[in-house]
Amino acid sequence: MTTAEISALQAEALAEIAAAAAPDAVEALRVKYLGAKNGLLPAMMKGLRDVPPAEKPAFGQALNALRSAVSDALAARKDAVAAEAAPREAFDFSLPGNWRPVGSIHPVSEVIEETTRIFAQLGFTVADGPDIETEFNNFDALNTAKHHPSRDARDTFWLDPERLLRTQTSSVQIREMLAHKPPVRIICPGRCYRRDTTDATHAANFHQIEGLYVDVVPVSLADLKSTLAHFAREMMGPSVQVRFRPHFFPFTEPSVEVDFSCHVCKGKGCAVCKQSGWIEVAGAGIVDTRVYEKVGYDRECYGYAFGMGVERIAMIKHGVTDLRLLYANDLRYLREFL
Ligand code: PHE
Repeated sequence: MTTAEISALQAEALAEIAAAAAPDAVEALRVKYLGAKNGLLPAMMKGLRDVPPAEKPAFGQALNALRSAVSDALAARKDAVAAEAAPREAFDFSLPGNWRPVGSIHPVSEVIEETTRIFAQLGFTVADGPDIETEFNNFDALNTAKHHPSRDARDTFWLDPERLLRTQTSSVQIREMLAHKPPVRIICPGRCYRRDTTDATHAANFHQIEGLYVDVVPVSLADLKSTLAHFAREMMGPSVQVRFRPHFFPFTEPSVEVDFSCHVCKGKGCAVCKQSGWIEVAGAGIVDTRVYEKVGYDRECYGYAFGMGVERIAMIKHGVTDLRLLYANDLRYLREFL
């Protein structure tokens, strides 16, 4: 065998390897050329013995080169064939990415959390009360006359003659005062229920945040107003105005309704504030001494109370004109608040 024949064999082997299309074919060629038993190259290596000594070095070198060329080609082809056999993953880079839903806080919960934070800074703790209340906590102890229209079955959801779905979080004032001596400084966020026909600004189930501060030292309407003004500015921004209008509640005297200047139009008049520039957000007042009597407090206590409409605040904060949108559970709408 001459070196020329060796290069011819190399060319033939490489061509065969390049043409091998499957892992089996590559393996068969490995056996054919490199196989320890009958492989061509090991046989040729053995034949080296019969080569005249002068030609041995060149011949040996040529054989070594042939062997490494063949084994390199086999290894490369093996990888290539395996890669071709693997299922191809088609990836379309123009496809939109996967949307991962991220939850967001509902505007009503957001107002409750924010309000809790603001009042916590003023030393108010959070109190809780049940949605199902007694007539005593919801009406009697709040000095509501026996025949007050709010007690009527057309306004209140009665469960039985003594129990009802609370119409106001003011019932928690009573629970707190019955359980604790003054000073009491609490807020109470929670659900309320009234037989209201649902419209853009009313719902049969809505949220209030009650506030109550009772102390043995004087607490005035001015304290109430400055506290609510502080709250309004923290909640809505520094330019918001707060005004009190005289009103009546059986459990406060004097009583007021509390308006915030409209956050959406800055008081100029818009759909959210019904062109008035103001939005009613709370009822409030100085706690009536008759309430103290009902809970066994000293008549000489001083205190204020307020009850804010959570949905109202959420509406002015976000410029929502129809309260029903907050409860329609339409994700397209709720995602606006992400
Ligand atoms: N509970 C009253 C309402 O629902 C609001 C209020 C709370 C008024 C506390 C005065 C004091 O309308």
